[in-house]
Amino acid sequence: MRFSVMTLFPEMIESSMNSSITGRALENNLISLDVYNIRDYSLDKHKKVDDYPYGGGAGMLMFPQPIYDCYKAIEERINAGDSSGKKPRVIYLSPKGKIFNQAMAKELSQEDDLIFLCGHYEGIDQRVLDTIVTDEVSIGDYVLTGGELPALVMMDTISRLVPGVLNNEESSQDESHSAGLLEYPQYTRPAEWMGKKVPDVLVSGNHALIAKWRMEQSLEVTKKNRPDMFEKYINSQQG
Ligand code: ADE
Repeated sequence: MRFSVMTLFPEMIESSMNSSITGRALENNLISLDVYNIRDYSLDKHKKVDDYPYGGGAGMLMFPQPIYDCYKAIEERINAGDSSGKKPRVIYLSPKGKIFNQAMAKELSQEDDLIFLCGHYEGIDQRVLDTIVTDEVSIGDYVLTGGELPALVMMDTISRLVPGVLNNEESSQDESHSAGLLEYPQYTRPAEWMGKKVPDVLVSGNHALIAKWRMEQSLEVTKKNRPDMFEKYINSQQG
C-alpha cells in the first residue's frame, strides 16, 4: 500500500504517520508514504494557492492550478513504477462526502495506491475536483479546519488492515465493527483492583462459556451505545 498525500501542511501528515504502529509499518516497508506540498506546485510568484470565491461569500477557495499540477506529478511517479495504466483512486476529504466506515476501509485496503487530497480554507474549486477526484469522503458529521486529520484517520484505519502491520493477526478479527457488533470488555491483571474483580467466567478456563459471555457482552454494549448497529445485526441474523 502506497499512500500519496496532497496537503498544505506536510509536517502534520509526516509527524503523525511516523509515530506508533504506522511508523513501524513505514520502517518495515509494509506501507509507504509520499507527502506533497501543494504550495510547491503554485506558479504564482508569491506561491499563492487560494483566491476569493465567484459569487461572493465567506473565506477563500483553493484554485485549480497547483492541485492539478501536484496530481499530475503524483500520477507520473505512480505510472513510472507501475505499467498497469490503472488510475489510482483519489480521495477528497470533505464534510460533504460519503461517511467513512470499517467496510470502506477494508475495500480501500485492497488498493495498491491511494491518493488523498486535503483541502483548506472554505474548500476547493469544483472544476479540479470534477477532474481528478474519484471518492469524496467525510469522517463524520462535524466540520474540521482541514482534510489532514481525516486523511490521517483513514490512513491509520486502512494501514492496520494491511497484512503484517499488526503483529498479531488475531487482533483485527474480534474487534469492534468487524462483525457488525462492538467489542466486549477486556481485563488484565490484577485479578482484583480497587475492590473490583475480573468477571469469574474469564478466569474459569471454560472457553465455550467465555465465548458465550463475550457474545452477550457485545450484544449488550452494542444495544446500549449503537441501537442502529444492534438492529441491523439482529435483522441480519434473522435473514
Ligand atoms: N474536512 C472538514 N471536515 C471534514 C470531515 N468531517 N470529514 C472529512 N473532511 C473534512
